[in-house]
Amino acid sequence: MRLAILTTLLAACAGSAPAPDAPTGAAPGQDLASIMKDRGLNEADILAAAKTYTPSGKHDEYVIFASGGHGGNIITIGVPSMRILKYIAVFGAEPWQGYGLGGESDKILAEGNQGGKVINWGDVHHPNLSETNGDYDGKFIFVNDKANARVAVVDLADFNTKQIVKNPLVMSDHGGAFVTPNTEYVVESSQYAAPLANVYAPLSDYDAKYRGAAVFWKFDKEKGRIDQEASWAIELPPYGQDLADAGKLVSDGWVFINSWNTERGFGSGGTGQPPLEATATKNDTDYLHVINYKAAEKLIAEGKGEVINGMRVLPLALVASEHVLTFIPEPKSPHGCDVTPDGTGIVVGGKLDTHTTVFEFSKIKALIEKGEYTGVDAYGVSVLDFQGSIRGQQEIGLGPLHTVFDDKGFAYTSVFLDSTVVKWDYNHLNQPVESLSVQYNVGHILAAEGDTVSPDGHWVVAMNKMAQDRFLPVGPLLPQNFQLIDVSGPKMQLTYDLPIPLGEPHYSQMIKADKLHPIEIYTPIGTNPYTDSVDPGAVASGKERIERNGTHVDVYMSVIRSHFAPDYIDVNQGDTVTLHLTSLEQAYDQTHGFAIDMYNVNVSMEPGKYEEITFVADRAGVFPFYCTEFCSALHLEMMGYLLVKPTKG
Ligand code: CUA
Repeated sequence: MRLAILTTLLAACAGSAPAPDAPTGAAPGQDLASIMKDRGLNEADILAAAKTYTPSGKHDEYVIFASGGHGGNIITIGVPSMRILKYIAVFGAEPWQGYGLGGESDKILAEGNQGGKVINWGDVHHPNLSETNGDYDGKFIFVNDKANARVAVVDLADFNTKQIVKNPLVMSDHGGAFVTPNTEYVVESSQYAAPLANVYAPLSDYDAKYRGAAVFWKFDKEKGRIDQEASWAIELPPYGQDLADAGKLVSDGWVFINSWNTERGFGSGGTGQPPLEATATKNDTDYLHVINYKAAEKLIAEGKGEVINGMRVLPLALVASEHVLTFIPEPKSPHGCDVTPDGTGIVVGGKLDTHTTVFEFSKIKALIEKGEYTGVDAYGVSVLDFQGSIRGQQEIGLGPLHTVFDDKGFAYTSVFLDSTVVKWDYNHLNQPVESLSVQYNVGHILAAEGDTVSPDGHWVVAMNKMAQDRFLPVGPLLPQNFQLIDVSGPKMQLTYDLPIPLGEPHYSQMIKADKLHPIEIYTPIGTNPYTDSVDPGAVASGKERIERNGTHVDVYMSVIRSHFAPDYIDVNQGDTVTLHLTSLEQAYDQTHGFAIDMYNVNVSMEPGKYEEITFVADRAGVFPFYCTEFCSALHLEMMGYLLVKPTKG
């Protein structure tokens, strides 16, 4: 019906392309043809608009969870409207969510501090949704922080970050956070090699002492947290591990990681030697790491390995001799490593190659089972034959990076240098391909349910690193550009450009919206989102109070339209103050905020939520506190005073 109307409209306005000398400044007409003429739109534009425009009150069909890059957050975006729904704070403070500004979430951020240093940012690379039987289950999302080697757990019940674990072995990560098909593990592998557990060693010891690692974080689905005690790792050579993916279906139990620096280059140090980029690209091939993690799990269960910095690690010599780790040559300086939906193939994109390579899991497995190796690497890891391990290669273009999949047997590869998205058949290689120009320099790419055993097709998003002329100029630092591509028809069609104005995104995933079931309010009243239970400090209406114990003051405060109770607090300079805040609201979207002027405190009080703020009242004076959310007609009146009486002298 809707299509018929559009067709009629398009027919009505066919042949009414804007005249080159159309008068400007005239009042626009209100019919479609006049609007098209006035705005210089063609039929393809109208079609793209009809595919993406989402009227007020109508919800999107899909939700993207995008990496926020060095914004340290996750961006939630509706598809097809491409409307940004929420930024989820993960590795850095964020005032609107009251994250890291005095409340309970400070403890989550503090968990991520490394080596006695406060780390208050992160470089989010690869969000990964939790899976059940290889399909997104909509329960959790995990992200890695490349800059500080950490992994965070976000609960999709309330879209809040619940845990940050720090990698005890490596200093930077990249191949993560990838989940195994039933979220048994969240895999995080290293990027830049360094001595494990941050022991000092000069670069001249690079080959002997620098290492990578793959950490298998054990996820406890019941608790919704990573179980650090039950997590373990595999030591890897200093080959600069890059992207990774977990096997699925036939390849379940295996993990694949590629590498870009098997040359083991480490720069010139100003000595006139070639820079790292030259050394690291010298060889024609690097190594795809093939890890049999079920075999590794068995070794861990037998008590093998050693404990390094609190984590059980299977040493390189052991994983090499047990063939837990095997290598296959892969085209020069690869980047993306993506397992096909049926688990039979592993697609690797070589940045400096014009092909994607499809490795065939059944061939790899057969070679390993037969013990047919071509030799060993410098660390004794067995190497498989390249030709004997592949399904084939596909000519793609200059700089293929990442590959995603649809429901019809097609792969979509982002091609960085050519600025194209290339659609190709990963089962029958060397068929004609379709290429779509994007703007510009596409990095990652994502597809609807693209990492599951059953991708949905329909939508692909090119995550472009550059925007240049796509948007109004905003100074020399430009937003990145997410371009939504409709892949449901015989030809790919670009339908929407979304500027991303905070951080440089890397990977993203897109989930069917009806798989997400977020809560509307915290129940029962007084629920602490970080313990998922009613906090002992929660207060009921009528029980609000201030308790003094020496120099410690506990304030049990309720929050409801449009007042705080108590609404003034007398303390002495130097007192330690703990505010126990309970929102008594039970109405959806009735959020309050709580900020104390000059004390760097701001929390968000969603309905039913408990928050706890502890600080030393070291600055004397009169400090208003107030509600930072426009909650009611009397929002402005929702305030009170913290009175800090100066100590004598
Ligand atoms: Cu409560 Cu504004």
